[in-house]
Amino acid sequence: MSNEHNTIKKWVMGNWKLNPASLTEALALTKSIVNKQANLQSQLVNIAVAPTFLHLQSVKQSLANNISLMAQDVSTHADNGAYTGDVNAALLKDIGVSHCLVGHSERRQYQQETNEQLTQKINNAIEHSIQTVYCVGEPLAVRDSEEHLSFVTEQLLSVLKPIASDINSDNLIIAYEPVWAIGTGKVASVDNIIEMHAHIRTILTELNADLSTTSLLYGGSVKPNNATEIAGCSNVDGALVGGASLDSEQFLDIVSAFS
Ligand code: PGA
Repeated sequence: MSNEHNTIKKWVMGNWKLNPASLTEALALTKSIVNKQANLQSQLVNIAVAPTFLHLQSVKQSLANNISLMAQDVSTHADNGAYTGDVNAALLKDIGVSHCLVGHSERRQYQQETNEQLTQKINNAIEHSIQTVYCVGEPLAVRDSEEHLSFVTEQLLSVLKPIASDINSDNLIIAYEPVWAIGTGKVASVDNIIEMHAHIRTILTELNADLSTTSLLYGGSVKPNNATEIAGCSNVDGALVGGASLDSEQFLDIVSAFS
């Protein structure tokens, strides 16, 4: 099943990571985003924010209806039970979460997440109608050895192939985030981005024709001063924003650049 008009949706998503330092600050950031978003001239771009698990519910209460709530992860366990420290897709859905990051490079690195676990997480999200933002991207050594295309192909196929018939543009978004560009201030060149996004589009469409209209986001040091250039790249349908999403003005400037 493809989305309604077979058009590709634009998204700018803020990944707050382990920020800000208090609930008070998280709510202040939320209110500031909501106020600035209400004043935007164009509402063509969909917006999502991903606070910590702890702040999801409070942020939800302060969010405008047209801003989506995203979790930064989801449990591999579908059922409730003896899984200390986990939060499953059902609980996320229950409090109004509509999106979920899976496979962010920081989780791959610090939690040693495996491909099997990532498939399981996406599968659980699908079953609870949560749209997954599956993150892929190569480390610097891979880029330097010019194996970035095959590296990302492997990240896509090993995780998505087992669920190829269940994924479509309504339940899956892909974020290409070169690891060397995350939080470093180094942004991939326009040529780098265009090459990889075209490649990802080809791989996805070969996997399942329903993925031809899946939104492909770029992430990695997206800031107001580079957003317009990135937004102009073919096959770039939005951005996954880390650092700049903690500043409502910068975040909304990026949204405007994609409008
Ligand atoms: P950054 O983070 O914008 O701070 O580079 C992006 C991300 O990790 O999603």
